[in-house]
Amino acid sequence: MLDVRDLVVRYGPFLACDRINIHVKPGEIVGVIGPNGAGKSSIARAIAGLVTPTEGQIDFLGESILGIESHLLIRRGLSLVPEGRGLFAHMSIEENLLMGGYSLKNPVRRSELMARCYDLFPILKQRRRQIAGTLSGGQQQMVAVSVGLMGDPKLCIFDEPSLGLAPIVIQQIGETLQAMRKLDLTVLLIEQNAKLASTVADHIYVISAGRTQYHDTPQALLENPDVLEKFLSA
Ligand SMILES: Nc1ncnc2c1ncn2[C@@H]1O[C@H](COP(=O)(O)OP(=O)(O)OP(=O)(O)O)[C@@H](O)[C@H]1O
Ligand SMILES: [Mg+2]
Repeated sequence: MLDVRDLVVRYGPFLACDRINIHVKPGEIVGVIGPNGAGKSSIARAIAGLVTPTEGQIDFLGESILGIESHLLIRRGLSLVPEGRGLFAHMSIEENLLMGGYSLKNPVRRSELMARCYDLFPILKQRRRQIAGTLSGGQQQMVAVSVGLMGDPKLCIFDEPSLGLAPIVIQQIGETLQAMRKLDLTVLLIEQNAKLASTVADHIYVISAGRTQYHDTPQALLENPDVLEKFLSA
C-alpha cells in the first residue's frame, strides 16, 4: 500500500532523513519509533506531501505520489494526524470533524464517518458542541484522530499520538488503534513510546539520526534490549 524507498529529506544543509525505506501492506499497523529529533516527523511530512524530499520514491496504492499536494493526497485516501494534533482550538468538536470531512463530496458518507467516529469515541458525541481547546489532552487527541478518519482514509499516519498524555490515556489510544484493524484501515504509527508501538504494530522500524537502525517484529525488538537501549533511551 505504501512504499517509501531511499527517502532523503534535507533542511538546507541539515540531513534529517538519510535513505529511509518503509513498507506498509494493506491492513497492517506499522510502527516507526525513535528518539527526539530522529527524523520521524520528517518522514511523516514527506509522505503526506508537506515537505519535499531531496531524493527517493514514495508510492501509494501502486502510484508515485511525489509532488502531489497534501489536500489531493487526502482525496486519494492518505491522511496525516499531525504531531501536536493541529485542531481548530476555537471550534467545536463537531465543527472540527466537519473540517476533516470537507473534501468528501458525498454527504451520506460524511454522516457515516461521523457516526463511526462517535462510535469509536462516545465522549465526543456527548460533547460535540464543546469547544475543542477546552478539552483534556486525551480528548483533543481523540478529536485529532477523528478529524483524520473523517477524510475517509485508506492509510492513516499518526505522528506521536501519545505525546504528553497520561499512561491510562495512552492505553486507550492503543485500543483505538487495534479497533482500526476492524475498520479496514491501514496505519503508520510514529511514536517515541516504544511500548505503545510494540503493543499494536505488526512490525517496527527503529529510526535514529535519520537512519533506519533496525526493522523487525515487536516480539523480536522486545527480545533485543540492546536496540532499545542504544537507540531509544535518548
Ligand atoms: N523545518 C525545519 N528546518 C530545519 N530543521 C528541521 C526542520 N524540521 C525538523 N528539523 C530538524 O530535523 C531533525 C529531525 O526532525 P523531526 O521533526 O523529523 O524529528 P522527530 O523524530 O519527529 O523528533 P520529535 O520526536 O522531537 O518529534 C531535527 O534535528 C530537527 O531539528
Ligand atoms: Mg516528531
